[in-house]
Amino acid sequence: MDERKIIIAIDGPAGSGKSTTARCVAQHFKYVYIDTGAMYRAITFAALRFNIYPDNHEKINELLETTSISLKRNETGEQRTFVNEEDVTPHIRSKEVSENVSYFSSVSRIREAMVEIQRKLGQKGGIVMDGRDIGTVVFPNADLKIFLVASLEQRAKRRIAELPAQSIVMSFDEVVENIRQRDLLDSSRDHSPLMKASDAIEIDTSYLTIEEQTEKIIVLAENIIRRKSL
Ligand code: CDP
Repeated sequence: MDERKIIIAIDGPAGSGKSTTARCVAQHFKYVYIDTGAMYRAITFAALRFNIYPDNHEKINELLETTSISLKRNETGEQRTFVNEEDVTPHIRSKEVSENVSYFSSVSRIREAMVEIQRKLGQKGGIVMDGRDIGTVVFPNADLKIFLVASLEQRAKRRIAELPAQSIVMSFDEVVENIRQRDLLDSSRDHSPLMKASDAIEIDTSYLTIEEQTEKIIVLAENIIRRKSL
């Protein structure tokens, strides 16, 4: 294994800046960025389309058997999310998916299927993966584990700022409520809840810019790469 190709796990609650930071860190090291939230959103989108409820285990199993979730890069290097051969990227951040994703992502069978794909994607190293359980469950031996946090207000402000580009209309209160609800469900579920790994480094991004938080992680990763290459 190439010592310069480490695994960087970035976990944290909704809107803590994981995706943007992870993408920038991956760009710096020329690593692959993997957005695991997009995978849970994609399976949620597929389930909603067929009116499948999270507690219908038979239908969920059927859905998982007939659905492949994949992440592909387009010509400009942007990550696109696919359900079978369909590019569902424009749909997975909708209000409906955001309101339902935490229910589907608490289903054990769904988690097992997603984790299997994520481990395959990351097995060769050279990745930055973001999510809720990357440092605790998907890659408990990741070389660098980061846990990003930020105040609820800051996280909601950031999410609101992203919405116009995604043509999503939600009020500030709706965004706050959605984040609060998802944090609660994600942290309290039985199967791989959102939590900080004991060896993760916590960074509060409330008053940091993307550049500042990216730089902190790059410095930490460079130290690890240097040590591994000795
Ligand atoms: O972008 P944001 O932080 O709002 O959410 P996301 O990363 O797109 O994740 C959407 C949802 O997927 C989360 O609220 C979790 O319910 C679920 N998720 C998970 O359970 N485990 C992961 N590794 C990633 C996401």
